[in-house]
Amino acid sequence: MCGIVAYVGPREAYPILIKGLYRLEYRGYDSAGICLVRKNDLKIYKCKGKVSELETHLSGKDVSGTIGMAHTRWATHGEPSVINAHPHSSQNKSLSIIHNGIIENYAVLRSELKNRGYHFTSETDTEVLIHLIEDIQTNEKVPVEEAVRIALNQVIGAYAIVVLSKGCPDKIIAARKGSPLVVGIGKDEFFVASDATPIIEYTDNVVFMNDEEIAIIERDKPLKIKTITNQDKTPYVQKLEINLGEIEKGGFDHFMLKEIFEQPRSIRDSMRGRLHADLGFVTLGGIHDYEQKILNADRIIMTACGTSWHAALVGEYLIEDLVRIPVEVEYSSEFRYRNPVIHENDIVIAISQSGETADTLAAIELAKSKGATVLGICNVVGSSIARATHAGVYTHAGPEIGVASTKAFTAQVSVLVLFGLLLAQKKGTIPQSQFYRLLHELNAIPSKVETILKLNDQIRNIARIYKDVKNSLYLGRGYNFPVALEGALKLKEISYIHAEGYPAAEMKHGPIALIDESMPVFFIAPKRGTYEKMITNIEEVKARKGKIIAIITRGDETLKKMADHYIEIPDTDEMLVPLLATIPLQLISYHIAVMRNCNVDQPRNLAKSVTVE
Ligand code: F6R
Repeated sequence: MCGIVAYVGPREAYPILIKGLYRLEYRGYDSAGICLVRKNDLKIYKCKGKVSELETHLSGKDVSGTIGMAHTRWATHGEPSVINAHPHSSQNKSLSIIHNGIIENYAVLRSELKNRGYHFTSETDTEVLIHLIEDIQTNEKVPVEEAVRIALNQVIGAYAIVVLSKGCPDKIIAARKGSPLVVGIGKDEFFVASDATPIIEYTDNVVFMNDEEIAIIERDKPLKIKTITNQDKTPYVQKLEINLGEIEKGGFDHFMLKEIFEQPRSIRDSMRGRLHADLGFVTLGGIHDYEQKILNADRIIMTACGTSWHAALVGEYLIEDLVRIPVEVEYSSEFRYRNPVIHENDIVIAISQSGETADTLAAIELAKSKGATVLGICNVVGSSIARATHAGVYTHAGPEIGVASTKAFTAQVSVLVLFGLLLAQKKGTIPQSQFYRLLHELNAIPSKVETILKLNDQIRNIARIYKDVKNSLYLGRGYNFPVALEGALKLKEISYIHAEGYPAAEMKHGPIALIDESMPVFFIAPKRGTYEKMITNIEEVKARKGKIIAIITRGDETLKKMADHYIEIPDTDEMLVPLLATIPLQLISYHIAVMRNCNVDQPRNLAKSVTVE
């Protein structure tokens, strides 16, 4: 995690850097810092806490300078504090660094450097790297970019770094391995950032750096890229496709609310040009060349983390249902370390909003090393996961900035439905009539989501009743078991209320002991699939005086009578219910968190892009 941004060019750097930090704050907000090169000196300012605190700290100070870099931190090594905040300086103060990632062999390097007389002021792994660069530069008398290159050859771990040198007041050195880094190329200026959001208002020409590449960026000179093994690379300049409006709040109080309300559009966008309901077919251009391989696969393994893992679970249910290929779903963090059985005939699908999750990336590398074909379902175009996979399908949900994932989940599920339908048609595993019906049902989902969003006020009223609870349960069966998990995750991560998701029938194997009159139980109980069984589970909770909040199919009079509160959603096919049932749960969590004065977009201890394992 951590967000980094840098600038060199004719403009004042500070406004660009501070705005960039606000855009990147979703990546971590434990501390923030900035370095400006002025009068051949490195001026460093840092603060514990959020970017706004840095901005307040700097108000009235001289922040002039046309080259600089800035950092917003998600703490890994060392507590959130000013001392541990980036940028970090080398011992002789001639160099400064910002870093996103983890230097795994930092302890060894630190003790070697200590033996050579270096003093450490912070507990971070990053400080090790800048002392190492200084050490190499001093001993080998090489330019700073060469010292960075040599140092990176000694480093084990992940990094996106920017280094400034007071001896080179027009030069930025940037490098990456495992953590993302984008270089923006303007007319006579350059930008560097963890993602494109700090860059898009200045230029849409970008270079997504690859692992083990170093960018040597100098004002008025062409961008130079080389590998850490010293091979020159031609920069591959791409056009950005996002616009500024997509990354602003657009009148909503929070990004999370905006993103919840964007779902009719984001689901439509994820299906645009792929779902042809009237013509009766589905296409997924990104995996076209792999279709036959997928159809012949013995098994599909899906790997992901968090909300994306929940989407994968929905995918498991629907691909097995539609295509009859066995599917396994794995937490990336477990998969990568547990010596899994992977065959060349397996298809591994990695699902990730950010496309940067370190565990998912490592799971991909493992699967590739065993010869499997690896596909990606990612939201961020050009992200590390999108590039590490053999092929894939972008979700096109647009930038998701709220730390809690909302529209990315429904876009992932939409893509998984398309994937299942495409294979089912090619494989002939479902009747044509069912296939056409599902196409039309899927096509109708965005407008059904719109009708659910109209219930926002009613949902807010329900949220008010439960905002002070300490615990909660979310229960669902079949396709709605992952929805229960996702509902519980949304509540706990943004409101800090303890929430557990369970398959409804599992409740009696333990969690039922928790139920009393103070326990709200959210049932996802559409009139589809195992509806009758859900009624029995609801009775079991009622008998123990638990409070029932039920997500029901519109017009279900039975559950209206049984539940303490209900939210009606339009009817749809059983396998598409997650796309609808998730929406009220997102809204409940959002409103509860707002009423509890929680920071909805930046919940404590979290970061949007988990680039550490
Ligand atoms: C929860 C949430 C996280 C992410 C997880 C994976 O709201 O956002 O659980 O889903 O960190 O992130 P991606 O999808 O970027 O790989």
